[in-house]
Amino acid sequence: MGRILLPELERVLLDESTIKQRVRELAEELSLDFKGKDVVLVGVLKGSFCFLADLARGMSIPLGIDFVACSSYGLESVSGGNLSITKDISGVVQGRELIIVEDIVDTGLTLRELTDFLSSKQPAGVHTVTLLDKPSRRRMIIDPDYVGFSIPDEFVVGYGLDYAERFRELPYIGVLRKEVYLR
Ligand code: IMP
Repeated sequence: MGRILLPELERVLLDESTIKQRVRELAEELSLDFKGKDVVLVGVLKGSFCFLADLARGMSIPLGIDFVACSSYGLESVSGGNLSITKDISGVVQGRELIIVEDIVDTGLTLRELTDFLSSKQPAGVHTVTLLDKPSRRRMIIDPDYVGFSIPDEFVVGYGLDYAERFRELPYIGVLRKEVYLR
């Protein structure tokens, strides 16, 4: 069933079936690559909730599921310490393969700091999958291991991604009109 595009959105970037198809492919790829391993998907709240739910259900190997949450203070004083972890994982991770599940990688700050933070807990390995990647915005030296879609430098919402806590529930990913965030 089609939906009317919200007036705040410029256009649909990725529709529901395109997302579904790509998430299924990523789930199959991860299932093959991590077959026989003790895997924990670590979702980054809140933006990854749709992606993690669909990815986990598409995978064909046993999984642990955990979550972290963090808040960013921006990049002005780069040297570490500008991202704080507001919710740590709750399960045991020593000796397990952690796969960080992100909605979008932009400057790379979140993924860089989360990778370092989780690595310090002595897991077997830390791996990264993101649904969306904006490589042109990268400020940190890090690239996700698995990427759903590389997208241009536009502000996107839907399928978990928000602007001021809105639009997370949309089943598609749309480009937010500049007037909405520049006013
Ligand atoms: P990074 O630390 O700069 O890579 O940014 C990561 C976080 O910024 C993501 O987890 C999102 O919460 C947010 N973000 C970056 N770009 C967008 C966007 O286009 N739409 C919604 N959130 C975004």
